[in-house]
Amino acid sequence: MALPKDESVPGNFTAAPPEEEEVRPGQNKSFTREESNKLGGDRALVSDFKQMKLEKEAQKNWDLFYKRNATNFFKDRHWTTREFEELRACRQFESQRLVLLEAGCGVGNCIFPLLEDDLNIFAYACDFSPRAVEFVKQNPLYCSERCCAFQCDLTKDDLRENVPEGSVDVITLIFVLSAIHPDKMKLALENISRVLKPGGTVLFRDYGLHDHAMLRFKAGSKLGENFYVRQDGTRSYFFSKEFLAELFEEAGFQSVTNNYVLRETVNKKEGLCVPRVFLQSKFTKPGQLQTS
Ligand SMILES: C[S@@+](CC[C@H](N)C(=O)[O-])C[C@H]1O[C@@H](n2cnc3c(N)ncnc32)[C@H](O)[C@@H]1O
Repeated sequence: MALPKDESVPGNFTAAPPEEEEVRPGQNKSFTREESNKLGGDRALVSDFKQMKLEKEAQKNWDLFYKRNATNFFKDRHWTTREFEELRACRQFESQRLVLLEAGCGVGNCIFPLLEDDLNIFAYACDFSPRAVEFVKQNPLYCSERCCAFQCDLTKDDLRENVPEGSVDVITLIFVLSAIHPDKMKLALENISRVLKPGGTVLFRDYGLHDHAMLRFKAGSKLGENFYVRQDGTRSYFFSKEFLAELFEEAGFQSVTNNYVLRETVNKKEGLCVPRVFLQSKFTKPGQLQTS
């Protein structure tokens, strides 16, 4: 079964050519009895030993993912400006140069469309996979006047080593927090908060609770509540609105918007229609926005 390369999931799935797919607004998603039984029946968790190994090898597993897939897995995320009107609204005046940080940038599918679309953006981009960062630097659109890519584990390495404290207007977290162990998500949020300006914005999009991808995990893939491991060792958390709001609030942010986005992926060739659930949210760091 094909998923949109746009939001495709590494590991368990094969991504089909994008021309076979169409993403359209979805219907309200609730689980069928069969789906609930499947999730309820899959209660056995992966052993503590394997869980520790996965945590220790998280960076290696993502780096191997990029070794296998290079830049071919995720499709450029051209929806970012459309969906995040805020990216434009983040400016206090029209000619303001927006400083952006794409945290967990992968190979740059999110930042490069933004840089193409808006000439007045400077983008920091970081990822803990050295290969992913190298792919970003090799992109023909990469230039040091407009971008700065660096390697960083958001849960361990202080972002201030590469980004001045309180200097960023907007931080994007696109399908990244789901890859981090729930116990360490707060550390990542505290880290990004240090480089965000007071009054600055975090734009978030990630897997929502009950997304179709959650149902596709086979028995033996469950790591904890709403947390699963793919065949390639990368992990994915599925967010409820409540969990996310609490997490950001505990890290000192204020919630602005926090909504499920329902989509349907249509695979025309196979005649299949797959319901998708994403969570799209906006948070701010309290304080007065400084004009520079
Ligand atoms: C699903 S990809 C999304 C990439 C990109 N944001 C995009 O929209 O295409 C998740 C990315 O998060 C990165 N990642 C996972 N855990 C991380 C961590 N602790 N620190 C930094 N990057 C991390 C992975 O290497 C991977 O590139």
